[in-house]
This record gives sequence, C-alpha cells and structure tokens, in this order.
Amino acid sequence: MTGMNSEIYGDLDYILMTKDQIAAKVREIGKKLTEEYAGKEPVMICVLKGAVVFFTDLIRAIELPLRIDFMAVSSYGGATKTSGVVRVLKDLDEPILGRDVILVEDIVDSGVTLNYIKGMLIQRGASSIRIVTLLDKPARRKVPDLKVDYSCFDIPDAFVVGYGLDYDQRYRNLPDIGVLSPRIYGNK
Ligand code: IMP
Ligand code: MG
Repeated sequence: MTGMNSEIYGDLDYILMTKDQIAAKVREIGKKLTEEYAGKEPVMICVLKGAVVFFTDLIRAIELPLRIDFMAVSSYGGATKTSGVVRVLKDLDEPILGRDVILVEDIVDSGVTLNYIKGMLIQRGASSIRIVTLLDKPARRKVPDLKVDYSCFDIPDAFVVGYGLDYDQRYRNLPDIGVLSPRIYGNK
C-alpha cells in the first residue's frame, strides 16, 4: 500500500472483511433478491450516507427492473454511540404507495434508526418492506422486534469503518471494512 490509503489503514486495528469477501457476499444477496422479486419492480432505498457504497454495488447485482431513491437521516453526532433521536435530513423523491420497498442500510446497531424509517414507510403505504444491511451487530439491538431480512455479515460489538462506513465522516472510501483503533476516538 502506498500514499493516502496506507496512512488511513494505519488507523485500523485490523481488517474484518476484505473487498473480495464483500464482493462475493454482495453477489450472493443480489442473486437472492433477484429470485425473491422476480416479476416485480422494487424500489430500492439507500440510507445515506453510509450505505451508498454497498448500495451502488448491490443494485448492479440485481437482474431486475428496479427504481432507486435516497433518504438521509441522522442519529449520530461525531460520537460512536447512538443518540436515539432520528431526524430526517433528506426525504425520498418519489411516493412509495403500493410499492415493494427494499431498504438498504450500512449497519444495524441498536436498530433505532431503521425501526424509525420502517415505521415511516409503512405509514406511507408501501405494500411490502424488506431490510437489507451490509453489517449487523445483533449484540447491541435495542429494538428486538426489528426483522433484518438480509445481512451480509454479522459482526462483534466493535466500531468499524470503510466501504461507506465512517467515523466523523472519514474512512468511507476504504475498499475494505476494518475495526477502527480506539485510540482514534478514545478521547471523545
Ligand atoms: P442504530 O440506530 O443504532 O442502529 O444506528 C445505525 C447507524 O449508526 C448506522 O446507520 C451507522 O451510521 C451508525 N453506526 C453504528 N455502528 C457503527 C459502526 O461501527 N461504524 C460506523 N457507523 C456505525
Ligand atoms: Mg447509516
């Protein structure tokens, strides 16, 4: 490794998933969704910003007509723990009444964020909603009823970055997913 990335990789304790492992899993989930939604035209919703890298790979692994839309919410500040308060920063462009929705997240941690978004989409009359997440931290769930339909990887309770996931808006461009060294956020 050379240049900027070697500097960034120095902030990681270790790599959890390499880009090749991620790509293989994305293909597998794409195939499953292609089968499950055969004959339908789902709307895939990307929860910004963390899911954007996963989302752009996943939609290209689905061999069906589909639509995309984006939503941004905030539940985190610069810190590594959820505040429990969810705020919509950018809403969907299109109505989802009567549509089959696939909600794409980067990581389900407490589940508070996703549970809130799901409730909102149900209220708007989506005919079905499935949740797809890149990462799941089941040990930290605070919303036990929240069903995660597809998860690429279950991970332990550690703060991870890369492949879209950030700490304080950094590290999103790392191709792999790694555990951020606690010395980076230890003083917050
Ligand atoms: P939840 O509401 O606690 O499930 O929080 C989910 C959101 O918190 C995710 O969409 C991420 O933006 C953020 N988050 C939770 N854990 C991590 C992590 O380990 N790394 C980066 N972001 C995280
Ligand atoms: Mg997120």
